[in-house]
Amino acid sequence: MKFHDKSVVVTGGVGGVGQALVKLFAREGAQVLFTDRSEEDCAELSDKLSRKSLATRFVAGDLRNKLDCENIINTAIDQMGGVDILLNNAGIIPRGTILETTDDMWFSALDVNLNAAFFLCRAVIPHMQKVGGGAIVNTSSAWGIYPGPGHVAYCTSKAALAALTKNLGRDHAGDGIRVNAVCPNEVNTPMLRSGFIQRGLNPDTAIEELGKSVPLGHIAEPEEIADVIAFLASNESRYICGETVEVTGAKPVYG
Ligand SMILES: NC(=O)c1ccc[n+]([C@@H]2O[C@H](COP(=O)([O-])OP(=O)(O)OC[C@H]3O[C@@H](n4cnc5c(N)ncnc54)[C@H](O)[C@@H]3O)[C@@H](O)[C@H]2O)c1
Repeated sequence: MKFHDKSVVVTGGVGGVGQALVKLFAREGAQVLFTDRSEEDCAELSDKLSRKSLATRFVAGDLRNKLDCENIINTAIDQMGGVDILLNNAGIIPRGTILETTDDMWFSALDVNLNAAFFLCRAVIPHMQKVGGGAIVNTSSAWGIYPGPGHVAYCTSKAALAALTKNLGRDHAGDGIRVNAVCPNEVNTPMLRSGFIQRGLNPDTAIEELGKSVPLGHIAEPEEIADVIAFLASNESRYICGETVEVTGAKPVYG
């Protein structure tokens, strides 16, 4: 029960990596409040987990909306008495070069992948300061460090999230608040699978094929990313602060 005395907020809790995080932290004894867009999907996940004796709370909200972001933190404080760990995991992936990127794709990427993390961190940090510390783990991407091809809005938003992480890590280390980011390459989740489906490919076959390009032999499963996030949120990483940790199975980002 590594997190038995911790209260955790997970964004994008219904998604691939999000569900792995919600399960991991609930199994390890944390109080978990997760959030996602659809109330119905959140309720379905929470019910499914409670049948496995994993208690969770949720609040639905749209991370593009500042008030929803602030409401998530306020609800978490009201219901759990505090937030020790914030996991900014939610993300979207508009696909295209600059010429294929509409205003809506650009602003949505920045709203969900960057601005939500800004609003959530700004709301939670004063509470963490009051209790002498906390941990924040942002999910950036290997594509935020080395841009992958034809995803200009996504890569820019993830690069900015990596920069936000380093800034907050620097500014709040003295408060005992560690802010780090995980930067995965490809992960087997609905986000990646939807890209194959859009291109008319069978996602299982495509993922098996993609796995051959990874030196470790397969693309990451959501649990393999959740384990790294849990490490960064735990006391075991107490001297890691303001870092962007690449988790790629040794696969570089190809241009
Ligand atoms: N899958 C990959 O290959 C990969 C690679 C690198 C980084 N990442 C990052 O990992 C994180 C988790 O992604 P995933 O692969 O589990 O994707 P996913 O699509 O399975 O999950 C993302 C979740 O975020 C939620 N979300 C999106 N927009 C929202 C909004 N406006 N308000 C509230 N919730 C919203 C979605 O509903 C979804 O449940 C993301 O930040 C993603 O960018 C993923």
